[in-house]
Amino acid sequence: MYAVYCLPLILIFTCRSRGIRHRTEYGTPTKLGAEVVSRRKFFKFLGWGNFTAALGLCFGPGLVRYLYPRVLFEPSSIFKAGFPAEYPPGSVSEKFKKEPFGVWIVRKEDGEFYALLTICTHLGCTPRWLGSENKFKCPCHGSGFDRDGINYEGPAPRPLERVKITLAEDGQIEIDKSVKFLGEKDQWGDLGAFLKV
Ligand code: FES
Repeated sequence: MYAVYCLPLILIFTCRSRGIRHRTEYGTPTKLGAEVVSRRKFFKFLGWGNFTAALGLCFGPGLVRYLYPRVLFEPSSIFKAGFPAEYPPGSVSEKFKKEPFGVWIVRKEDGEFYALLTICTHLGCTPRWLGSENKFKCPCHGSGFDRDGINYEGPAPRPLERVKITLAEDGQIEIDKSVKFLGEKDQWGDLGAFLKV
């Protein structure tokens, strides 16, 4: 890719230098001897200078990018979400709704936990938890999900996704967003899809 842009540049720089050198050598026959030699050296030097500059212009940016590649630092998909006692039975916690977390932590009346991703399964908007109506409502196209995350109105084609929830060694709830459990595939009963304490 670089070569396509650079080749003409290099040729122009190099040819210009050579043209100047020819005029210097043959256009002024009276100037011979040491002066001509030194001028020839000077223009030769200029030629190489231009060539080097053209090379630098062409390949410099690529070299810099090679030496310092763009690295995207993604936040970890695993995080601690506090102790179970911080979540009253029958609650939907929005404490970790915002990015980079992006989950609701739901605790059922019987004490069981699960974590729902805050991503609408229609086109990816962020639904709102409406406590008074006991549902998640998407503001974009009106999809509704019950407290378990099951879609029951609007265009969303499937339930909200659950992510892995476990108890860490220090007794805190641990969420791993990289592991998902899909209701439509009967995965909500799998180990890690819920947490009993
Ligand atoms: Fe949620 Fe369309 S993105 S209903």
